[in-house]
Amino acid sequence: MLSKTIHERFCDQMNFEMFSANIYLSMASYFDAMNLKGFATWMKVQYQEEMMHATKFYDFITTRGAQAKIGAMPAPQTQWASPLAAFENALEHEGKVTARINDLVSLAASEKDNASVNFLQFFVGEQVEEESNAEGVIQQLKLAQNAPGAILMLDRELATRVFTPPAQGAA
Ligand code: FEO
Repeated sequence: MLSKTIHERFCDQMNFEMFSANIYLSMASYFDAMNLKGFATWMKVQYQEEMMHATKFYDFITTRGAQAKIGAMPAPQTQWASPLAAFENALEHEGKVTARINDLVSLAASEKDNASVNFLQFFVGEQVEEESNAEGVIQQLKLAQNAPGAILMLDRELATRVFTPPAQGAA
């Protein structure tokens, strides 16, 4: 069984992952509206990543004998000043997710809930990747300096991103 506090905080994080998914789907539609299909593809893959994260929390909560409670979440932002502003927003958001995951690890450790600590290790590693992915695109966008040719080349590159589901049984 999960403790009451960990149960509540894990449900909260599951909902936050779905909120993250909505943010990235909103960014995808922002890019689709600009006809930057590669940027949109990248964001749709990120949406799938976030839904996978939410599902991992859902599965862990239910496996530990508790109910994964779905709650209300705020509407995501729908407009950004530029592609760079959208990715900077994404990186800022991932920083918040990382801080939340770190807080959950500290909580689980303080309660000596080793199964939860072990479960959260996937997210600790995942956050390094999530921040690095957003940072990589930000660097390229800064190099592009809004030059249309460079943006279109980057759009083609980002179109190649594909969602890779985690291996069966992975934490
Ligand atoms: Fe689920 Fe982008 O962290």
